[in-house]
This record gives sequence, C-alpha cells and structure tokens, in this order.
Amino acid sequence: MHRFWDERYQQEGVYGRKPNPFWVRQLDKLSPEEPNSHLLLPCEGEGRNAVWAARKGWKVDAFDGSAVATKTCERWAEEANVQVKAHHADAFEFKGEVSGYSVVGLFYAHMPAHLRSRFHRRVSKWLRPGGRLILEGFEPRQLGLHSGGPKDEAMLFTPEILASDFDGLEVILNETASVELDEGPYHQGPAHIIQFIAQKST
Ligand SMILES: C[S@@+](CC[C@H](N)C(=O)[O-])C[C@H]1O[C@@H](n2cnc3c(N)ncnc32)[C@H](O)[C@@H]1O
Repeated sequence: MHRFWDERYQQEGVYGRKPNPFWVRQLDKLSPEEPNSHLLLPCEGEGRNAVWAARKGWKVDAFDGSAVATKTCERWAEEANVQVKAHHADAFEFKGEVSGYSVVGLFYAHMPAHLRSRFHRRVSKWLRPGGRLILEGFEPRQLGLHSGGPKDEAMLFTPEILASDFDGLEVILNETASVELDEGPYHQGPAHIIQFIAQKST
C-alpha cells in the first residue's frame, strides 16, 4: 500500500499545495493561543494542511505512511519557514502525544473497510478531552465521478458510518455536500463529499 502512495508522490503537489478549504474555515474559528494547542494531521501526505496550520501558529504533528510524501512535507515546511514535525509512520503504529491533541484533522484518509473503524477508534484516542476532530472525505455517490477517491464503496463514508465509528464523541456536524474540488491533479472537478466535526467530552 505504501509503495502505491510512494509512486503517486513522485509527482509533487498531487492534492495541491493550498490547504483544504473546509480545514481553513474550521481552523480559523479556533485559537492556537490556548494552552495545549497541539494539532495532529494523520495520513497528511505532502503537508498542505500541516504547513498552513503551522503558519497560523499551531504546534503541528503530521504523519504519513509514504516516505516520499513525508520528505516533501518536511521540505514544504522548511520553504514556508515553519515547524512541522513530520513523521513517516503507519496509522496503526503512530503513537503521538500522550496527553492528546486539541485538534485532529483527517482529510481523505480512506482505509480498507476491515481497518476503517479500528483506525477511527485510534483517531478518537489521539484527541485530548475537549479536543476536536475535523474530517472531510468522499461519500458513496462519488463512485460515479472522476474527481478522486477509492473506487471501492466499502471504503467511502456515510453519515451513519461516521456517527457509529465516532460514537464516543459529541457530533457537531455530519453532512454530505456536492462541491467543486480544486486540489491538485487528483482532486479536480465536481465531487460528493462528507464533512464531519466532533468533540471529545471534557
Ligand atoms: C488521498 S491521500 C490524502 C493526503 C492528505 N490527507 C491530503 O488531503 O492532502 C491519502 C493519504 O493517506 C496515506 N495513508 C494511507 N494508508 C495509510 C496508513 N495505513 N498509514 C499512514 N498513512 C496512510 C497515504 O500515504 C496518502 O498520503
């Protein structure tokens, strides 16, 4: 699997260099000035969202299973003159901050169906009490389109799947949307997505 991604990332900027717009809107509502303003981006690829968060003053950890993408993330952070702790790690091995993160941003991280809920349980554990998960991914109607995402319906997200996988969190937003993606060559054009926000109780 990681070899597939390493090959894809031979080309740089596959999901663009600009941050995801939902991430920008949601993170703008939160303040990195609070204590523990430590943020995690799992499966972050080349670091488009990590670099932007670091620019906004967040202390940022990111990881990805692709060594190529992790190197690009380090370089993009360096070029932007910001600190991002970019880990080359598998989602089922990454340990993260023991006290947890104030924000976890999960973007287009679609696992094989048999691993999805196990992965999402790990994501919940990475949040500190009061911490917030911000997620965007594809929903099943995306299957007929050519703007990205896995071609296996079992890997896509419905509101019911996300509500069940994150049932320990308080759900703030769980909505599908039809949008026009403009995120590099692999996320381009009309798309059916889901946006999800949830918070861990204090
Ligand atoms: C569609 S890309 C999205 C990248 C990034 N989140 C973004 O939106 O730009 C999915 C990413 O998940 C990573 N990934 C997939 N399975 C993984 C795993 N088991 N552990 C760590 N990373 C993984 C891939 O390497 C790839 O970078």
